[in-house]
Amino acid sequence: MKDIAPAKSELESIEIASRDEIASVQLERMRWTLRHAYENVPFYRQKFDGAGVHPDDLKDLADLAKFPFTTKPDLRDNYPFGMFAVPRDQVLRIHASSGTTGKPTVVGYTHKDIENWAHVVARSMRAAGTRPGDVVHISYGYGLFTGGLGAHYGAEKLGCTVVPVSGGMTTRQVTLIEDLGASTIMVTPSYMLSILDEYRAQGLDPRRSPLQVGIFGAEPWTNAMRIEIEQAFDMHAVDIYGLSEVIGPGVANECVETKDGLHIWEDFFYPEIVDPETGAVLPDGEKGELVFTSLAKEAMPIIRYRTRDLTRLLPGTARTMRRMEKITGRSDDMMIIRGVNVFPTQIEEQILRVPALAPHFQIELTREGRMDEMTVHVEATAGHADEAARAAAAADLSERIKQVIGISSRIDVTPPEQVARSQGKAVRIVDNRAKG
Ligand code: DLL
Repeated sequence: MKDIAPAKSELESIEIASRDEIASVQLERMRWTLRHAYENVPFYRQKFDGAGVHPDDLKDLADLAKFPFTTKPDLRDNYPFGMFAVPRDQVLRIHASSGTTGKPTVVGYTHKDIENWAHVVARSMRAAGTRPGDVVHISYGYGLFTGGLGAHYGAEKLGCTVVPVSGGMTTRQVTLIEDLGASTIMVTPSYMLSILDEYRAQGLDPRRSPLQVGIFGAEPWTNAMRIEIEQAFDMHAVDIYGLSEVIGPGVANECVETKDGLHIWEDFFYPEIVDPETGAVLPDGEKGELVFTSLAKEAMPIIRYRTRDLTRLLPGTARTMRRMEKITGRSDDMMIIRGVNVFPTQIEEQILRVPALAPHFQIELTREGRMDEMTVHVEATAGHADEAARAAAAADLSERIKQVIGISSRIDVTPPEQVARSQGKAVRIVDNRAKG
């Protein structure tokens, strides 16, 4: 893999500013945001009044903890435009995230918001090692999902040649990467694995592809998966994080030179970690639920948004801005199997340790009596498709899950190509408990 890290001179000064400088930008912007929300969004006014707090009560950053949280149901209750702080005709763009139930969550952007979003995505891409002039292949879905257009505007802002492919039609993805010479790809890690399969199906050596860096996000993925992808393509794999309610991709990104967690672009987004049960703010280093407050959003300022993502905050390394550890999972995705908390990423890690298994998997939950049962459906690699090899791989995985995670599970090792492929965010858990 080539050394593609940007030189310090290529960075924005705020990325490596002192902590005091960063805090002073944050305080000024946080004050503006609280006032903007209070004055223009009835929902925030009522919430703040109800909690007995006023934007003027924010004297330092820690005072933010006095303000109430915002949750996904709050956004749904104010569907579609109730969270907007500007007249609708100043809203340049709408995105939406598909909820599991009922109405989608709608988010809006002013012209300035779109510019700021492109700015943080461009900064993320630079951190990943992408440079002006590079060909950037975007396979995140275009549309209401923030992945495609978010990446697109960021790549244009950085000065790249953008190939807006969106998801799907995997055969053509490979043709375009090869023919147009993409050096950066932006895609979910699970769809990257489908692209990898397609390379092999076409008899192409992925290590000879023009790709030098992949900017992977929108779903949890492990360091084990990073190594798998990096070795398969001889490219760097870095993590990008974001969510529609806060802006979209580009809230935080890993630096290619360290790959040690994601630097949060703290001049635009203020992070907190809270205890998911009590809501109490936890000190840096402790694991809990990530909460964000936007610092510059005009159309839809967001105050203390409960992301449900679980991680911890760490000090800066390649940048002075703080890092968040790679996300283990969402509290929504936590399975409780015989009293043990399990996340799909833990299963992914173990699958990647078994050489006879391909990294495509799905977890099925069923209920027998009062117990939840977990079945892992996972594929054998081409060289291990016969029954004996599959049985051996199943026994190996089952033993690892038992030893490392501490639960008994059923393992169904299928022949290759049998587990549903992802074209965007992978569906890791199929919950059949209600039907059981
Ligand atoms: O997934 C935005 C995005 C697009 C991020 C492209 C990165 C790349 P939503 O559809 O609103 O937005 O989903 C947000 O996805 O709360 C996390 O649970 C999960 N997620 C996003 N990035 C990561 C990541 C986009 N790098 C939700 N690691 C978030 C783990 C991630 N989970």
